[in-house]
Amino acid sequence: MRLKTLPRGWLWLGVLVSGLSGCSRQADLTYVSSKAVLELDAKLQTAVREQLDKFCGTPTSPKLIGQKSMDPHHLQRGAAIYRARCSGCHGASGDGNGPAAAHLYPRPRDYRAGVFKFTSTPFGAKPLREDLMRTIKQGALGTSMPNFNLLPENDLEAVLDYVLVLTHRGELETLLALEAAGDDAVDPDNVEGYVGEILSLWKNAASQVVLTATHEPPYSAESIEKGRKAFLTEEAGCYKCHGNDGRGQPASNTQEFKDSWGFQTRAADLSAGMFHGGGRSLDIYRRIYAGINGTPMPAFKQKLEKEPETFWNLAHYVQYISSARRRDVIANQPAAKVGTEFKAHGGE
Ligand code: HEC
Ligand code: HEC
Repeated sequence: MRLKTLPRGWLWLGVLVSGLSGCSRQADLTYVSSKAVLELDAKLQTAVREQLDKFCGTPTSPKLIGQKSMDPHHLQRGAAIYRARCSGCHGASGDGNGPAAAHLYPRPRDYRAGVFKFTSTPFGAKPLREDLMRTIKQGALGTSMPNFNLLPENDLEAVLDYVLVLTHRGELETLLALEAAGDDAVDPDNVEGYVGEILSLWKNAASQVVLTATHEPPYSAESIEKGRKAFLTEEAGCYKCHGNDGRGQPASNTQEFKDSWGFQTRAADLSAGMFHGGGRSLDIYRRIYAGINGTPMPAFKQKLEKEPETFWNLAHYVQYISSARRRDVIANQPAAKVGTEFKAHGGE
């Protein structure tokens, strides 16, 4: 009796599971159009999609613009890894809207705007390849973005290239939708020009890396104290968003902030000991100097240019606050009593 019913049960389970995975696989094998494209009439939508397919390929046969000689298997491998490990959050189209996304804060990145937060380049500039690779390898501590340090180097390169496929596809989609809406047509002769525009922004990033203006002073009580003072000045005004103690709890840091992807955001709790963009003093220097793309965190390049050491002092103070919480002391303890133990956690 049992022997007869068991296989039947398993059969059903099999049907159910394969049905489910078949379903999600299908969703993963089509790109969703952006809102701007969906607002066009059907004929224009088709025209936009045709150009996107031509230049950026499909989920099973992707193409990376500007890389005509890239091995198609490399990108297919990247797409397969992406489907297995990334699309649940970032979505099959890279729209940051995978099945898990609605439950996550911060939201998974929508790559299509070509805007990235954790860069070594100035505010508004594209990231370097190394910046994206760093995030993929290290994850974003304190968010749901996992680290993929254990993937083989080839797979990391492949999945990164596929992220770039989706990013450039999104950037091109935006330009095509604009043309379609403005001209009521998509002229295939214009597309190479758009591709050139997109790629030149990415190429320019390489020459814009934020170099530190001075050497890093020692992580000392003196530097921390200078940083604390700067943090509380009207000019820098860090405290207005992050709070006097850096915990991000002033009344102004409420629901008012929106990021450029349209979601609510707040100033970071700097005492949490978890820097989304990396905890090295250089990472924090760059966040302060260049701000954080797509978010209300402003760039202080201009404001503090005349006193470049202040960037380091602020970075040290921020590191100090973050380690203070770990030791269960909050920032109002005199800096002089603090050792340099954060350094041990600060490396790559
Ligand atoms: C569990 C959800 C989740 C998974 C799985 C995931 N991510 Fe993310 N990812 C996020 C979140 C959330 C962010 C945004 C973090 C933030 O804004 O601070 C993010 C951000 C990113 C960024 C943007 C970094 C920047 O500078 O703006 C990249 C690139 C990225 N993820 C790549 C990947 C890749 C590649 C994979 C798969 C190998 C992946 N992610 C898997 C949640 C996820
Ligand atoms: C207008 C509000 C505002 C001001 C002023 C401001 N910040 Fe921020 N800051 C933010 C927001 C919002 C974020 C979170 C960005 C995000 O979504 O990742 C942030 C993030 C950061 C981070 C990144 C933390 C991480 O997780 O990697 C650092 C470091 C930081 N701020 C330091 C400072 C310092 C130092 C100052 C003053 C020189 C300052 N901020 C001024 C709003 C502000």
